[in-house]
Amino acid sequence: MAGSSSGLRGNRWWRSSVGRVLAGVTTVTAVAAVLVAAPGADAAASTLGAAAAQSGRYFGTAIAAGKLSNSAYTTLAAREFTMVTPENEMKPDATEPNQNQFNFSAGDQVYNWAISHGSQVRGHTLAWHSQQPGWMQSMSGTTLRNAMINHIQKVMAHYQGKLAYWDVVNEAFNEDGSRRSSNLQSTGNDWIEVAFRTARAADPSTKLCYNDYNIDNWSYGKTQGVYNMVRDFKSRGVPIDCVGLQAHFTGGSSVPGNLQTTIAGFAALGVDVALTEVDVTNASTSQYAALTQACVNVARCVGITVWGVRDSDSWRSGESPLLFDGNGNKKAAYNSVLNVLNSGGTTTTPTTTPTGTTTPTTPTTTPGGGSCSASLSAGQSWSDRYNLNVSVSGASSWTVTMTVPGPAKIIATWNVNATWPSSQVMTATPNGSGNNFGVTIQHNGNRNWPSVSCSTS
Ligand code: XIL
Repeated sequence: MAGSSSGLRGNRWWRSSVGRVLAGVTTVTAVAAVLVAAPGADAAASTLGAAAAQSGRYFGTAIAAGKLSNSAYTTLAAREFTMVTPENEMKPDATEPNQNQFNFSAGDQVYNWAISHGSQVRGHTLAWHSQQPGWMQSMSGTTLRNAMINHIQKVMAHYQGKLAYWDVVNEAFNEDGSRRSSNLQSTGNDWIEVAFRTARAADPSTKLCYNDYNIDNWSYGKTQGVYNMVRDFKSRGVPIDCVGLQAHFTGGSSVPGNLQTTIAGFAALGVDVALTEVDVTNASTSQYAALTQACVNVARCVGITVWGVRDSDSWRSGESPLLFDGNGNKKAAYNSVLNVLNSGGTTTTPTTTPTGTTTPTTPTTTPGGGSCSASLSAGQSWSDRYNLNVSVSGASSWTVTMTVPGPAKIIATWNVNATWPSSQVMTATPNGSGNNFGVTIQHNGNRNWPSVSCSTS
C-alpha cells in the first residue's frame, strides 16, 4: 500500500546550497547596503505550491470555470496551487462544439484566472476517445484523421506560447497494454504519433505529454504498453516531452509500492513525468505521503496535480478523495503531503550538482527607486532549470521587479505574491512570509541570471 519510499528525509538540501552572495549592487540614494541572503533560516513553506517550489516543482489542481465565481473556491485555489488544469474546458467537446467552429470562452476563463494568480496552465486534452463533440463521434477514417489534425492545429494556435504542458493524447491504451479500440485508433495505429508531430509543429514552445490512468504500477501490462510506446517514440524522433500518470487512486485502485520505479523508469527515457489527476479514496494519509515521496525522489518528476480543490469539487466526491473538505478545511492528508514536500527528498537521477557548472553566471543586482534593495543567491539547479533565492532589505513593504533574459523564463515562485504575465518580467510583493523568497527559472539555454530591482510602495 504505502510506497517503497517511506520515511522522510530531514535534509533540507535546497536550503544548504547557497554558494554565493552577489556583488555588483549599485548604490542609489537611500538604498540599503549589500544584502546577504540567508535561506538557511527559512521556515518550512506553508502552502502546497510554495513547498513544492522549493525543489523546483509545481503543485496543481483541476479548476472548473463554473466555480470561478465562488470566492471560497478561488481563495483556496489561489493560495495553494501553482499549476492549473482546466477540468473540462479544453477538451474537444468544449473547444470545437461544431466542426471547425471553435469556442475558447470557458478555456480562456480558466487560463486567465490561472495566470492572473501567478499559476501556470496545463492544457487538457487534444485527442481522446471520450468527451468528443457529437460530430466527431460519428466520424471515421481519413475524415476523422483530418479533423483530429485540424483540431490540434487550431486549438494549439489559440493557446500558442501560453501553456506549460499539453496533454496531446489521453487514455489510448487498454489494461493489457494493447491499444484501446476507438474511432481514432481505427484511423490507423500511427494516429498517436501523427497527433504529437502535428502538436510540435503547431506550438513548439509547449511540452507535449501522453496522459493515462492505471500506469502507476511498473509491472502492469498497461504501464509497459505506454512505456514501450514512449521508448519507441524517443528512438524514432517522434516529439514527446512528458508522461502524465493520472494517479486516480479511487474506484478500487491504490498507490502501488513500485510507483517510484515507474516514475524513474519513464524519466529514464528522457521525458518529464508528472502526477496529473491525483485523488485517493478517503484521502489516505499514507497513500498521499507515499505518492508525494515517490515524485520528490525522482529529479524529473516535475509536479503533482490533484483533481479538484475540495472534496465537494471532486468528480468522485463520494470517496472524499481530495486535500480539503467541503468547507475548505485542510484534511490530514494535506499535512502529510505538505510535510513530505517540506522535507525534500533525494533525487535518484541528479542531473547536476547544486553549485555545478550549470549554475547561472553574470548576476546583476540593481536597486530601485525606493529605500530597499534586493539581492540574489543560487539555489538548487537541474539540467533545465534553476532556483534563485531573493533577499529583500530596507523595507517590509516592497515591490521587486525581476527581468529574465530570454529565452529563459520564470516558471514558479514561493513565499511571495508574484505575477509574470510575459514569463520574462515578474512583479513580486510580500505575502506575509517575510523578506526572502524563491524563483524557479527554466533557462532554455540562457543561464545568465536575471536583474532585480526593488522599490517601496
Ligand atoms: C473528468 C471530469 O473531472 C468530470 O467533470 C467529467 O465529467 C469527466 O471527466 N481522466 C481524465 C479527466 O483525463 O479528463 C477526467 O475528468 C477524469 C479521468
